[in-house]
Amino acid sequence: MICTKAAKMFVNNAKIIELPKFLDARGNLSFAENFKHIPFEIKRTYWLYDVPGGESRGGHAYRTNEELIIALSGSFDVVLDDGKERKVFSLNRSYYGLYVPAGLWREMENFSTNAFALEFGSTHFDEADYFRDYDEFLKLKADGKI
Ligand code: TYD
Repeated sequence: MICTKAAKMFVNNAKIIELPKFLDARGNLSFAENFKHIPFEIKRTYWLYDVPGGESRGGHAYRTNEELIIALSGSFDVVLDDGKERKVFSLNRSYYGLYVPAGLWREMENFSTNAFALEFGSTHFDEADYFRDYDEFLKLKADGKI
């Protein structure tokens, strides 16, 4: 399948979105709404927890799924790669969401021991949406197919 969102599939189209926050002595509150704070309609949410300190996850790209990744607690790095450029985003605040367009190779690494990653996705889970082979990803990227 060829992706249709080619214009969005560069590392430079990823960005940190600062979510609303209500600071309160009783505890802080943040939230996110479809299209208002998150630039897509949320179809799925999943989370990573009990990740051993220093462990890595990810190591794939999506054909169509867009994501917003939040470090709800602790910290980790998200490494994005569009075949030409790599960029590391360090997440360590629960009111920062990293918007990841489709078509980027993404790895998550340097998890702190107490890290909790919340991810919103624009599609339902579909294994066929994954690229799991980095060399194949690079070739399709170089051919302009993703
Ligand atoms: P995966 O996305 O491959 O995580 P990682 O790249 O960090 O290893 O997901 C791991 C497993 O979980 C994989 O077998 C598919 C399954 N999974 C779902 O069933 N639904 C989901 O929404 C996600 C994200 C994963």
